[in-house]
Amino acid sequence: MDMDKYEIFKKDVNRLINIDLDYYKEKQMKRRISSLLTRNNFKDFDDYFLGLKEDKLLLEQFINYLTINVSEFYRNPSQWTVLENNIIPALIDNNKRGLKIWSSACSTGEEPYSLVMMLSNFFPLKDIKVLATDIDEEAMNKAKVGLYSEKSLANLPKGFKEKYFTRIEGSYKISDEIKKCVEYKKMDLLKDRFPTNIDLITCRNVMIYFTEEAKELLYSKFYNSLNDKGILFVGSTEQIIMPEKHKLKAAKTFFYEKIV
Ligand SMILES: C[S@@+](CC[C@H](N)C(=O)[O-])C[C@H]1O[C@@H](n2cnc3c(N)ncnc32)[C@H](O)[C@@H]1O
Repeated sequence: MDMDKYEIFKKDVNRLINIDLDYYKEKQMKRRISSLLTRNNFKDFDDYFLGLKEDKLLLEQFINYLTINVSEFYRNPSQWTVLENNIIPALIDNNKRGLKIWSSACSTGEEPYSLVMMLSNFFPLKDIKVLATDIDEEAMNKAKVGLYSEKSLANLPKGFKEKYFTRIEGSYKISDEIKKCVEYKKMDLLKDRFPTNIDLITCRNVMIYFTEEAKELLYSKFYNSLNDKGILFVGSTEQIIMPEKHKLKAAKTFFYEKIV
């Protein structure tokens, strides 16, 4: 792919979404974007940019791809509503002994802490345990500190901010009682052994970095990791094309149930 097209692409992207790719390592970024556009069947940067302008999901995928560690509480809030109103109650019905929950690319902790806060609507905190794993130890160290920007809290349901955060200068610190419910462990999704007997796995906004082959491997590992009727919750650009092939079925959009 020639250089000029990438220069133009960078300017166009900056105008469209206000992300300046000049701030990113050029060689790596160019290579990564090239592989992303090829995977999405575009032929070059021009062609891809036209796609980005027209297709919101494609644009979201692109932004996620650029912002590797970025997370927020209750990311894609409507999916968390489905989780709270449909998925969790069904899991509880199926399973009287409490739920085993795993946030599998937890980054800086917003996702596992959101899970704990949501579960606090169903169980006392002392009975809640969420396993949180990531390949990036530095991100998990930030999670353990638990200091967040106001912006990352924007989608939190009413009441949680006051109940579980303390304001420290410009940031918000999550309370120890929430932190205590999360156990962090380093894990590479593509190489390490998975925990078993899990009722709910979240794997969100990480599979976009992976090849088709890697994703196939991951689906089968998740299948083995889940309890019967357990649920895999994926990110908003990560729907599984043929879930039945992996003995999963769509319980709701973005939620896949293990077929018994
Ligand atoms: C965009 S964050 C997603 C955070 C959260 N799940 C969310 O949706 O907001 C992606 C995370 O995936 C992690 N990651 C990338 N490759 C991984 C791998 N092979 N195994 C485990 N985690 C990985 C990164 O370190 C990063 O923290």
